[in-house]
Amino acid sequence: MAFQRVALLAGLFALLSVFFSAQATPLEKRAVRTSPPSGSVVVRGSGTQSGEFSTLQAAVNSLPNDSSARTIFIYPGTYSEQVSITRSGKLTIYGSTTDTTSYKSNSVTITHALSAGQAGNDDLTGTLRVHKDNFALYNVNVKNTFGPHTSSGGQALALSAYGTNHGYYGVGFYGYQDTVLAEQGNQYYGSCYIEGAVDYIWGQHARAYFQKNTIASVAAGAITADGPTSSSDASLFVINQSTITTSSAATTDLTGKVYLGRPWTQYARVVYTSCSLGALINPAGWSQWSSSTPNTGNVLFAEFASSGAGAAGTRASFSKKLSSASGYGIADVLGSSWTSWVDQAYV
Ligand SMILES: *[C@@H]1O[C@H](CO)[C@@H](O)[C@H](O)[C@H]1NC(C)=O
Ligand SMILES: *[C@@H]1O[C@H](CO)[C@@H](O)[C@H](O)[C@H]1NC(C)=O
Repeated sequence: MAFQRVALLAGLFALLSVFFSAQATPLEKRAVRTSPPSGSVVVRGSGTQSGEFSTLQAAVNSLPNDSSARTIFIYPGTYSEQVSITRSGKLTIYGSTTDTTSYKSNSVTITHALSAGQAGNDDLTGTLRVHKDNFALYNVNVKNTFGPHTSSGGQALALSAYGTNHGYYGVGFYGYQDTVLAEQGNQYYGSCYIEGAVDYIWGQHARAYFQKNTIASVAAGAITADGPTSSSDASLFVINQSTITTSSAATTDLTGKVYLGRPWTQYARVVYTSCSLGALINPAGWSQWSSSTPNTGNVLFAEFASSGAGAAGTRASFSKKLSSASGYGIADVLGSSWTSWVDQAYV
């Protein structure tokens, strides 16, 4: 009996070794996080137990407003709420997932529907509003389901991020107009999904680095709208090694209907490095803000090593192609201290 077991195990082991050595590339590190890291405040929408909270906002409100670092863990579920975070100390929020490396297995969704026409301004529409420094969010979907609006006031943010040293990892952002507001500070988005139609990555003063994201348009429009207030405003968005594609939720053919960006102000700075651009990207690549207000005078709109069907075509005269990504690496955008706050597992 014992010998049979040993033989069986040896056989299995041999099979497994063959299987693993046959893999051409190393297996990606896949980790499960389905229970609260020790010390976490716990959010559980259904079957909430003693000491836990049924909403994320209640959990956030339970934290002291001091300089201590705190952690929140959220059990699977759809949480219909708007969340505002202002505490001073570092806050890290984890959504339960069977695969931390991606947004694809996210089981926690925070959802709300509100537009600027209803709320009074853009920030107030955010499903998740983070007005603080030192913040990290892992494996949560954040949605503003307000959707398209035919007149003005249709801005409807999933995320409103006002702060520096913000890291978003394996997060899914869903909206239509103005989904992700990177307003100020240094911010990193790693292995995220960002969906929208109009100006859905935007802001005025932030320096934001997006790496290994999937950026998906759900209707015609420009992906980015950067709006530095002057030439000395250092705002810059760099999108590296990401896939620009059509959302599976799109209801019309978007071929040639989407632009990499349009300039909210004439100082807009957006650079795509090593991205795969789907056929949705118009051959001109970039568009002016509007025909009456082109805003193209002082823009930095650039690409390096774009690939895919959307990389072809004669680009707009106010944009350029770079011969290297030099000057647009993570340290260039976020500063030399970026390794102290960006989770290196998502670089
Ligand atoms: C926490 O303190 C900061 C800084 O003083 C303040 O801006 C914020 O409104 C406070 N938040 C809460 C929830 O009390
Ligand atoms: C883009 O991402 C890849 C893969 O993570 C990395 O090797 C490369 O250095 C990044 N590009 C820049 C300009 O930092």
